Amino acid sequence: MAHMDKEAPMQRTVHDFYATRVRDAKPSPTLAVSEAARQLKSQGVDVIDLGGGDPDFITPQHIRDAAVAAMNAGETHYVGGTGTPEFRKAISNKLQQDNRIVAHHNSDILVTPGGKFALFLAAQAFVEPGVDVMVLEPAWVSYIPIVELAGGRAISVGLDPDANFKITRDILESHVTPATRIIMLNSPNNPTGRVMTREETEILASFAVEHDLMVWTDEIYEKIVYDRRQHISIATFEGLVERTLTFNGLSKAYAMTGWRLGYVAGPKEWISQMSKVNSHATTCATSFAQAGGVAALSGPQEIIDEMVQAWDRRRHLITEGINGVRGLRSSLVEGAFYSFVDAREVDTDSVRLADRILNEVHVGVVPGIAFGASGEGHFRLSFATSDDALERTIDRLTGMFGAK
Ligand SMILES: Cc1ncc(COP(=O)(O)O)c(C=O)c1O
Repeated sequence: MAHMDKEAPMQRTVHDFYATRVRDAKPSPTLAVSEAARQLKSQGVDVIDLGGGDPDFITPQHIRDAAVAAMNAGETHYVGGTGTPEFRKAISNKLQQDNRIVAHHNSDILVTPGGKFALFLAAQAFVEPGVDVMVLEPAWVSYIPIVELAGGRAISVGLDPDANFKITRDILESHVTPATRIIMLNSPNNPTGRVMTREETEILASFAVEHDLMVWTDEIYEKIVYDRRQHISIATFEGLVERTLTFNGLSKAYAMTGWRLGYVAGPKEWISQMSKVNSHATTCATSFAQAGGVAALSGPQEIIDEMVQAWDRRRHLITEGINGVRGLRSSLVEGAFYSFVDAREVDTDSVRLADRILNEVHVGVVPGIAFGASGEGHFRLSFATSDDALERTIDRLTGMFGAK
């Protein structure tokens, strides 16, 4: 019997089954911090976890009511793959009013289970081996893995912490490659809290046009800006609407992280490619969650102001506190709800430092290197938490490093 003569296959180890691109990807460092904090907590340790990015408010009542009503009315079935017409209309109105972006609800918008998944779909649709994607750093931890999981190469554009992470034409020109097809932006920025100025946005817009790039702009923190700053959508600049995908989601502005609702708007041909991928990935975002999404976007917006006012107070509290700790420095952030603390005087190795902070004083922070090499020597903490937790954090850090 011929098959008996064949050499028996070597026994595979569990690792031999991994796809290379997945084996090489690192898990999310922010989720890793939360996991380490959770483990300490389970041992009875009083941990203050400032690692994540989850608003400390429950989703407003009218949004919850709308989802419950939809569910009770029987909206428990699959819905259209690009999102319910009502939700897409609400998004289209919002984009027009807030961002001055004209996106037709029938063709230019795709609803996704979370903003993160919209980016993931875009990578599946537009990135492959041979495609370079420029990522401005410090950058949110998922951009590079999302590009690499799709087989592309991320080009890290490290911004200078000593120049307040300013975006310049020189720095962009010195990193662009012949294979660069996409540039990824995020303002207000996670983790630095910087809000791009009009001048920086103009630089990016003309750079994208001259190099014929697709622009991916992640605007998920647009509503969380301080001192009357205005968020500017790059899609509104000359020549940009036809080359831009604008990503957003309801997680941060409406305290809806657990609902998993996001969306992307852009040229209809691009949305259609992403929809095709989505149809094979998730079919559609959750039906009744989208009813909540309609209530969020079409209902009273003062709820956002209330949350932003609380975070504004905490922004001052944490920044003054951090600046009173020996060796630590933090500027007053312009947007989002993270402090990006410069700890280079204390330790230039941010993983070692974050580990010490967790194990010695039981505060969970994310090492700056998780956001790229230009974040090294820093750590990120979320101030979307109670005043009390922030005050205790300052006490603990002062106990560890001393007062200035
Ligand atoms: C910059 C940035 N973009 C996107 C997301 C994704 O949010 P979600 O998937 O909850 O919409 C996050 C969440 O932390 C983020 O910080």
